[in-house]
Amino acid sequence: MLKGKHVLIGVSGGIAAYKSVELASMLKKQGAIVKIIMTKNAQEFVTPLTFKSITGESVSYTMFDEEKPIEHIALADWAEIFIIAPATANVIGKIANGIADDLLSTCFLAGKAIKIIVPAMNVYMYENKVVQRNIQTLRDLGYLVLDPDIGYLACGYSGKGRFPESREIVDAIKVFSYFGTKIISLQNKKILITAGANREKIDPMRFISNRSSGKMGVSLAKAAALMGAKVMLIHAHIEEKVPYYIDSIKAETANLMYNEVMGIADNYDIIIMCAAVADYTIEDPANEKIKKKENISLQLSRTKDILFELGQRKKDNQILVGFAAESEDMIDNAKAKMIKKNCTHIIANSLYTSGKDETEQVLISKDKELKLIGSKLETACKIIEEIVK
Ligand code: CTP
Repeated sequence: MLKGKHVLIGVSGGIAAYKSVELASMLKKQGAIVKIIMTKNAQEFVTPLTFKSITGESVSYTMFDEEKPIEHIALADWAEIFIIAPATANVIGKIANGIADDLLSTCFLAGKAIKIIVPAMNVYMYENKVVQRNIQTLRDLGYLVLDPDIGYLACGYSGKGRFPESREIVDAIKVFSYFGTKIISLQNKKILITAGANREKIDPMRFISNRSSGKMGVSLAKAAALMGAKVMLIHAHIEEKVPYYIDSIKAETANLMYNEVMGIADNYDIIIMCAAVADYTIEDPANEKIKKKENISLQLSRTKDILFELGQRKKDNQILVGFAAESEDMIDNAKAKMIKKNCTHIIANSLYTSGKDETEQVLISKDKELKLIGSKLETACKIIEEIVK
């Protein structure tokens, strides 16, 4: 999603400046062309040479360079995505109030790029009402602000203010650049998403399950949450990390997932059942380890069909999206499931994309079929865009 994109990273003077070296490296590995602007204070933490070595591109830090007299305009015009990471309280305050007194703040005001801000600072500084007001001002003006992570901070405190992991920032850049300025359209929406593979207990050690990795469900949750929706992710076993900015509940078995989903479903505008829900559970799981014998049989019984029941009690304006994982007759089987389960949309996909980063799907609604090919994050963005249209 970032191949060939011009990404300008503005690095301001916080200890997290060293982490943006990794961010720059990761963006470059994804095919982006990465240029850097550093503030004077940022150079106290990392040198321009570090970034130059990583990106292979120019690093700029001065307004008044005789060789490049109007660089603030040239760089601003060059950038398609302009991200300030880390953004200190000082730089946030400046750009929220239109102050342009160095190369970074001047470029940020001048450019037409998609503008993203990643605050990182001490928790009390972050929670300070002036800083919060400035962040809100930026959000209200259409700037994209990625919430900081929560955890141990360099100052010794623990709380909100941590610079997010580079991969989370990269995914946020992908989602933000996909949606551009359409970002506010999900602000008042509540979206419930399920993901992953249920595990049905055989004995304390063993279970039956399936190959779902949860990648698609987590990607949908990322796309929706970054667009401003209030997202709840109910997940079974997943191989993906749930990002720090998404609320989640773990429901390992189909029965637990049924209870969690049904308990809150009525409060949501959109429900996306992406989980590979187990169709069967073990009738009478053993409490102690089953010892080896010649042959054994397991008695399986049907679980409840969560999507079917959601379809039965669906409110008129609720959007209900199912997934149909098929190995043959993909479209016909998916359409039949959409009607049977009373969904507004169904996404037909091949079983064989489980666990992979790339996918091929068809998004089906009453009057439309849309082919989606690409990374799971990109198709997640397309699905979210399409279902809220
Ligand atoms: N689903 C569900 N509860 C179940 C089984 C499936 O909510 N007990 C949901 C899935 O989350 C998915 C949709 O129903 O959104 C279709 O799931 P799929 O496994 O493709 O189909 P099934 O209905 O289980 O039918 P079959 O296994 O016969 O294809």
